[in-house]
Amino acid sequence: MTATAIYPGTFDPVTRGHIDICERALKMFDHVVIGVADSLAKQPFFDINERFDMLETVFAGNDRISIKPFSGLLIDVARESNANVIIRGLRAISDFEYEVQLAGMNRSLAPEIETVFLTAAQHYAFVSSSLVREIARLDGDVSEFLHPEILRRLTEKLKTVK
Ligand code: COA
Repeated sequence: MTATAIYPGTFDPVTRGHIDICERALKMFDHVVIGVADSLAKQPFFDINERFDMLETVFAGNDRISIKPFSGLLIDVARESNANVIIRGLRAISDFEYEVQLAGMNRSLAPEIETVFLTAAQHYAFVSSSLVREIARLDGDVSEFLHPEILRRLTEKLKTVK
């Protein structure tokens, strides 16, 4: 049996903080499925195909990672992927309350699936996709938070909406 975990998020866009969590999850699991939620309520800047494509680019060549877009419940995609663990990154204490609530609800819905929290690397503890987008939109330098190809795509897309 191989141990598979799912790492869900909106990834709008994927940042180095997310990549760091994935790399650390790979130390514990044979396979990590990155679940890309459509998160329509958040009105994502990149559509789901663009977010999927960016994750594919970042993790190209890593056969222990697969990328799966989804629009339903996280526990359903976890079960479909044979993942019995959900990975979540914790950045600051402020993440804690929401994360415990999410983990508790997911446990009620799917008791066989555990949530495992990984703390974000210090350097990325304050990074979020929306802050990175905002700084980039205001011409700030976000290169330390993004893979170069993601930075290129974000810069291109921002030009179309400015
Ligand atoms: N590094 C950098 N940024 C990080 C990070 C890390 N390690 N961890 C989280 N973030 C950022 C994200 O980029 C995101 O930024 P944004 O709000 O500016 O876009 C923010 O922190 C919040 O992240 P997260 O809590 O992961 O939210 P999300 O929208 O990315 O994902 C889902 C939430 C998709 C996991 C959740 O809504 C879900 O499970 N949806 C499916 C439907 C479902 O099952 N609902 C019932 C749940 S009980």
